[in-house]
Amino acid sequence: MNESSHTLIEKSFTFQDCEASQSLTVSIPEVLDSQYGMYVWPCAVVLSQYVWMAREELQNKTVLELGAGVSLPGVVAAKCGAHVVLSDSAELPLCLRNCRRSCDVNNLPRVPVIGLTWGRVSPELLSLTPLDIILGSDVFYEPEDFEDVLVTISFLVRRNPHAQFWTTYQERSADWSIDALLHKWDLKCINVPLETFEANKNHLAGSTLPGNHTVQMMIITRKAPTEVTRLQSPTDLREHKTATYLSTTKTPICFKATPTGADFGWLLDLDLDLDPLFDAGVRLLERDLDLDRERDLDLEGDLDFLLRGVCDLERERE
Ligand SMILES: C[S@@+](CC[C@H](N)C(=O)[O-])C[C@H]1O[C@@H](n2cnc3c(N)ncnc32)[C@H](O)[C@@H]1O
Repeated sequence: MNESSHTLIEKSFTFQDCEASQSLTVSIPEVLDSQYGMYVWPCAVVLSQYVWMAREELQNKTVLELGAGVSLPGVVAAKCGAHVVLSDSAELPLCLRNCRRSCDVNNLPRVPVIGLTWGRVSPELLSLTPLDIILGSDVFYEPEDFEDVLVTISFLVRRNPHAQFWTTYQERSADWSIDALLHKWDLKCINVPLETFEANKNHLAGSTLPGNHTVQMMIITRKAPTEVTRLQSPTDLREHKTATYLSTTKTPICFKATPTGADFGWLLDLDLDLDPLFDAGVRLLERDLDLDRERDLDLEGDLDFLLRGVCDLERERE
């Protein structure tokens, strides 16, 4: 795409508190083009409102925005006193250019803009300074990318255990869910009701963008590490309600093991050897039995069983 052939339009957004005693106006240049990272999405206005309402907490905090596009939330965070790094896909230089342009228009010349592609461990990712907050507005819009986004988040919150991922999500299909991936990557999530930060409006920050879209605000964090005890044998699983099944080469998987049945049909997609679990008394639900597949890993050689002593994952998920 030749950028010079595209028209730029500047849009203003004004955030204010309910007494209107404080306000912040930022301008975001949008590119008239159908690509995703070229203009402000409804999710960005909602996330920016959250950032604005949290502005005192954000002072001097280090904030990374992922998939920033035209970067409204990151710009608001920087204007509120956070040390912000903006990022978008390393393969989309025009989106990175948009990040830079939004900073320039808002007089933020020192905000770094870097290429960070979700799911990829790159020198840019590895050289990030410690982070407090990660922002992601409308980054869960293509189901095939959900895991890549969460892989990056999982990596970042392991390095920065207190960090939080503040993200807004536009409901586009009732069938899409990140629940299984959150479990897989040892993350947990809370929903933040929009009314708690005055975002339950069709008009927000002087913009009609939120409109009738269903946007949700979530905070994703690392699942608290719990005491880990090595199981001596798979049969020890009988003694415990909940365990983490670890392969030396694969991602840790959490599941709830009960003698009567466990809803972990989704685990079957992960190409793990579940025989030791079945031997230990775990049963699949009837409906999952036909999804079972050939399993060929060797328990002694390839797998470790670790027990998470405290958690009842089902309760945690609630
Ligand atoms: C729906 S747009 C949202 C843009 C902006 N956050 C907003 O809400 O206005 C999705 C953004 O993710 C970026 N993106 C897409 N795939 C990506 C990837 N694999 N890694 C990093 N960013 C990506 C796009 O360039 C785009 O800026």
